[in-house]
Amino acid sequence: MTVYIVGAGPGDKELLTLKALRLIREADVILYDELIGEEIRELVKKESRALLVDVGKRAGKHKKKQEEINKLLIEYGKKYSKVVRLKGGDPFVFGRGGEEIEVLAKNGIEFEIVPGITSAIAAPAYAGIPVTHRRFDPALVFITGRQERERLNWEALAGLNATLVILMGVSNLKANAEKLMKHGKDPDTPVAIIERGTTENQRVITGKLSEISEIAEKENVRAPAVIVIGGVVEIHDTVKDYLRNLKIP
Ligand SMILES: C[S@@+](CC[C@H](N)C(=O)[O-])C[C@H]1O[C@@H](n2cnc3c(N)ncnc32)[C@H](O)[C@@H]1O
Repeated sequence: MTVYIVGAGPGDKELLTLKALRLIREADVILYDELIGEEIRELVKKESRALLVDVGKRAGKHKKKQEEINKLLIEYGKKYSKVVRLKGGDPFVFGRGGEEIEVLAKNGIEFEIVPGITSAIAAPAYAGIPVTHRRFDPALVFITGRQERERLNWEALAGLNATLVILMGVSNLKANAEKLMKHGKDPDTPVAIIERGTTENQRVITGKLSEISEIAEKENVRAPAVIVIGGVVEIHDTVKDYLRNLKIP
């Protein structure tokens, strides 16, 4: 009896790993998140003979809480031989995979991790933005835009000479951009927002740090979106006419 904590990648089904696909085909139960996206959901329905449990489904308005998901993992982990916990992107990048393996270990259930391609790198990549580039910042920082309490040192982030990649950052974009500028980040720093990256609905919105929240509001940007702050965003403009990652009509 094993629980597989599997990353489904950022949305494009061709970014699913061979191992993830094999496990989807072999699983007895699959618990999946809303974030895996439409394309992967369809693939799971087509390829799998498993009991499918949508733990991202909103009952009323609330998604299943993490505690309920943990309980299901324990229950199914004790009952079935192959349980797949399918998560968007990579399970360990702002994905609570860490909490889930702690729960499994505490309950004596064996597990395996199957890393996935994280949206933090793949969404910018599909937009022609390399998260590192020798001409630009020598560091890369992944940040959550939403915290239960403020634990980020924005002054340090502003002065770091690092490309900042923010996940879950749409709702707090204005406040976070202001914090960076208040601590000295250049208001002209290029920013890109990649909405629904790697899917056929991908949208790329760019602007300067000083104006990006206004642009995002005007463009009605919605989650899921990855925000990239740094010089590397310039590459998008240089390459976009030759970029063939998505079949743009
Ligand atoms: C709870 S985090 C999970 C991240 C995930 N574990 C990963 O590695 O991609 C959810 C955030 O991931 C980002 N995200 C996930 N999929 C995305 C996609 N296809 N396009 C853009 N952003 C995405 C968004 O910032 C979203 O708010």
